[in-house]
Amino acid sequence: MVCLGNICRSPLAEGIAQHLADQRGLDWHFDSAGTSGWHDGKPPDSRSIEVATAHGIDIAQQQSRKLIENDFEFFDFIIPMDAENLRDVRQLAPDGSKAQIRMMMDFLHPRRDGRVPDPYYGGKEGFREVYNLLLQSCEAMLNELTS
Ligand code: 4NP
Repeated sequence: MVCLGNICRSPLAEGIAQHLADQRGLDWHFDSAGTSGWHDGKPPDSRSIEVATAHGIDIAQQQSRKLIENDFEFFDFIIPMDAENLRDVRQLAPDGSKAQIRMMMDFLHPRRDGRVPDPYYGGKEGFREVYNLLLQSCEAMLNELTS
């Protein structure tokens, strides 16, 4: 799960996807990273922690890190949140890497070119909106990948 700062959207995406996969009894591992590295080592934004906690998901122990080339070898999927993330992810992807790059919202609305909006400069309502978008798209992702 990849966004710009790895403190708002992708930590939530990681937490939600891991929670849903665990509930389904899948032995799958999710992680998250940022394209920027601006917040390296920091925990998620308190507003992301709060909305996750309200839904029984603990993301407080996560630490922001930058996306690295090795991620394209280790993970089957690299999942950017918006078009800017997608562009940056593609730039970092090594030639011939095996990971599939797939936009988060594409699992929910294929071909609609949707994005998970950046909630950083807004209020708490934006984080609730992001939570709901991610919940729907992560459900759709697990449905597709287990069918
Ligand atoms: P994120 O949100 O990419 O969802 O983690 C942001 C976090 C920090 C900044 C921008 C977006 N920033 O400019 O520091």
